[in-house]
Amino acid sequence: MSEQLLRYEKLAAELAGMIAGGVLAHGDRLPSVRRLSEERRLSVSTVVQALRQLEDRGLVEARPQSGYFVRRPMPLRGEPVSRSTPEAPMPVDISQRLVRVLQAGMKPGVPPLAAALPAPELLPVAALHRLYAGVARRHPKLLEGGSHINMDEPALVRQLVRRSLAWGGPLAVEEIVITNSCTEALGLCLRAVTKPGDTVAVESPAYYLMLQLLETLGLKALEIPTDPRNGISVEALDLATRHGEVAACLLVPNGSNPLGSVMPDERKRQLATLMAARGVAVIEDDIYGDLHFGAQRPWPIKSFDSAGNVMLCSSFSKSLSPSLRIGFVAAGRHRSAIALQKTITSGGTNPITQHVLAEYLESGAYERHLRNLRRTYERQIDAMRAAVGRYFPAATRMTHPQAGCVLWLELPDEIDATLMYERAIADDLAYVPGELFSPSGMYRNCLRLNCGNPHTPEIEDAVRRLGALMMKP
Ligand SMILES: Cc1ncc(COP(=O)(O)O)c(C=O)c1O
Repeated sequence: MSEQLLRYEKLAAELAGMIAGGVLAHGDRLPSVRRLSEERRLSVSTVVQALRQLEDRGLVEARPQSGYFVRRPMPLRGEPVSRSTPEAPMPVDISQRLVRVLQAGMKPGVPPLAAALPAPELLPVAALHRLYAGVARRHPKLLEGGSHINMDEPALVRQLVRRSLAWGGPLAVEEIVITNSCTEALGLCLRAVTKPGDTVAVESPAYYLMLQLLETLGLKALEIPTDPRNGISVEALDLATRHGEVAACLLVPNGSNPLGSVMPDERKRQLATLMAARGVAVIEDDIYGDLHFGAQRPWPIKSFDSAGNVMLCSSFSKSLSPSLRIGFVAAGRHRSAIALQKTITSGGTNPITQHVLAEYLESGAYERHLRNLRRTYERQIDAMRAAVGRYFPAATRMTHPQAGCVLWLELPDEIDATLMYERAIADDLAYVPGELFSPSGMYRNCLRLNCGNPHTPEIEDAVRRLGALMMKP
């Protein structure tokens, strides 16, 4: 299987190299599938896979009855740069607008470009169904009640700890609390280390659900400039935490949502050391850590923390299924405070699902699934970038995500993505306006697109229509 993948990737890389080097120019016809198959001694399906990959990346297009042709090159687009942020912390008030945007984006018939969700067909749903049936049969006592506390399934905790060996762990068995989703994990951490009125440092732009948590817990947000390549500014955090007014730092260092940035290790190390020295708790969301595009699994900030100051939160919502609702927090020295919050919030976490996940991880199927999913997300992002290049105003900038499944666009200053959203939704089109990623309402000329779905003609058409909308004054 992997041999086959390598072959098609090799062929795709060679052809992409010829296109980049001008050997194959815009409008040229590629050799036919049959010819490539004979000359390269590859199966027809391997050649087709290679050509599809080039198509996904926007390098070639298939013309009915004629074969594959080199596409018009995408105009070069700059990346957004980090912006300076307000110096004072502020209350958050995005929830109502956010709920409206997310609900409108889920309406039947609206292409799935708003919420950051994977397409169902990318998920191993059938394997999970089989495991649910098997676990229910083999463990008939799982639903026979039990205590509301200590419901964490040891086999799952062991698997989580084992997996952490791949990224500079290990986590400790004793520090893990299993949760209902990453969102629950983040909320438990915030409740454990803050009280209403406290200030929490967040990335700018920040994941809107984190802002919503701050809003509902009565916490203030302090926006810290964040670079689309390097993540949150440690220098700005240093300045912001000098006078002891920041209670916690909440961030997504691996595959930021919405920027897709991965902080370099050295900056993670600096952040871990600085926050421990200042007594500022770090709440790290690592949900996209397994969905990296580089060769190595990026390490979390947790792996540079020797003080037990970092709480690592994650879940399997982006990699296995958002419906599993299973996450965890590796809580360091905050473990008992978080376990208490968990008890009073939701008691425990569904034991059948914990067993299912433990067995899935143990079987090795997760690693195989991840290998494919990472490549798929990366290709889908490439295809989305190419489509934005074709249809959006020429001055649009976009990120070059290093992990995850979202793309962030910065439109020319005069385009207000919040106002345009009303027109988009009236046209059955959706995205998340940039303003919802900032408590101070920055990023009105930005928007986020979900790339969790295969780049079908419907998605291409939705991007074309969105681009046309943005061109209208
Ligand atoms: C950074 C980040 N954290 C958490 C979540 C939500 O995860 P869960 O469904 O496990 O609550 C998302 C989903 O978009 C996300 O992007």
